[in-house]
Amino acid sequence: MSIPSQINDPTTSPLPGIIGSGTAMGEVYQTTRQVAGSNASVLLLGETGTGKELIAHAIHDLSQRRERPFVRVNCGALSESLLESELFGHVRGAFTGAIDNRTGRFEEAHKGTIYLDEINSTTLHLQVKLLRVLQEHEFERVGDTKSVQVDTRVIAASNRDLLELAEEGSFREDLYYRLNVVPIYLPPLRERTEDIPQLVTHFLNLYNEQNDRYVAHIDPRAIEAMQNYHWPGNVRELQNCVERAVVMARGDELTFELLPSAVRTGRPPRALGTRAMDFQSLTDELVHRGLKDAGEADEDLLSRIVEPVERQVISEVMTSTDGVQIKAAARLGINRNTLHKKLKQHGLDGE
Ligand SMILES: Nc1ncnc2c1ncn2[C@@H]1O[C@H](COP(=O)(O)OP(=O)(O)O)[C@@H](O)[C@H]1O
Ligand SMILES: [Mg+2]
Repeated sequence: MSIPSQINDPTTSPLPGIIGSGTAMGEVYQTTRQVAGSNASVLLLGETGTGKELIAHAIHDLSQRRERPFVRVNCGALSESLLESELFGHVRGAFTGAIDNRTGRFEEAHKGTIYLDEINSTTLHLQVKLLRVLQEHEFERVGDTKSVQVDTRVIAASNRDLLELAEEGSFREDLYYRLNVVPIYLPPLRERTEDIPQLVTHFLNLYNEQNDRYVAHIDPRAIEAMQNYHWPGNVRELQNCVERAVVMARGDELTFELLPSAVRTGRPPRALGTRAMDFQSLTDELVHRGLKDAGEADEDLLSRIVEPVERQVISEVMTSTDGVQIKAAARLGINRNTLHKKLKQHGLDGE
């Protein structure tokens, strides 16, 4: 009789500070442990909030490089030229504003690890430079001809399928293969709902402590709702949800009512209307969602379609900006008063 290999296998047990003991995460822990001791590049794949950065840190902390720097660069946050100088540094006079020499993040991470988040946002020009660092461990600072040698381990993350981008021509295939030596795929939270109770407990402890609260019980209905929700923002969104509940709780229980409405109502994965839809499927969808009776005339059709979509978009942006209205308004491209009015109109102002 064979025993599932997962049981008794210490390599699949959770890493410090990382929650989740299902099979999917077990594989992640195992690969993380296996790869940590080497100098191989690692490519972390998975939706936003699934724990890619946490795993990148774990690899560094388990490696010989742990006493040296771990340097994180978000490639999606800077324009091409700023990112190039951020990563590789520049010499004085390299471009307008380059008044001093500056060492880049690759040099800063010498003997340590560099974590390139959102590597999918790099341009083809930068990808050439990255490929060379990966292969030859050398590069030039912007505006310089002299090569710099570095010993930096590269961990990259992407929330897009790089092979698909390679096929579209926006990501170099050779760089993809070079990065993909060891891929680690972080599954979305909705595919490992068995980990939700443990994660909730973990975050309850964290936020109880931070806020001097004592929310010790969890309503089974709350757990059920959380296990049925699709969590587009994954663990990060769950974390925010628990923090909010702890802050808002009146008693010592995380009740169903403390959950954001999106979690309570368990909306389906996609906003209505985000897919290309023909008119018939759109009306069918409205009927299906109880927003229109079958056979009913199409009066007010525009507002019936637009309003639920608008409500959902606003609600999701409010969640992703932790309810900070000024940020949400900026992201939505509307002013704060308009947002305020719309929150009221959609009954989202109490959240
Ligand atoms: N398995 C996990 N256990 C505990 N916390 C987690 C886990 N996965 C993610 N988190 C937390 O969720 C948030 C988002 O994780 P992060 O690693 O930044 O995700 P990503 O880089 O994939 O966007 C962080 O606060 C992180 O600590
Ligand atoms: Mg991240």
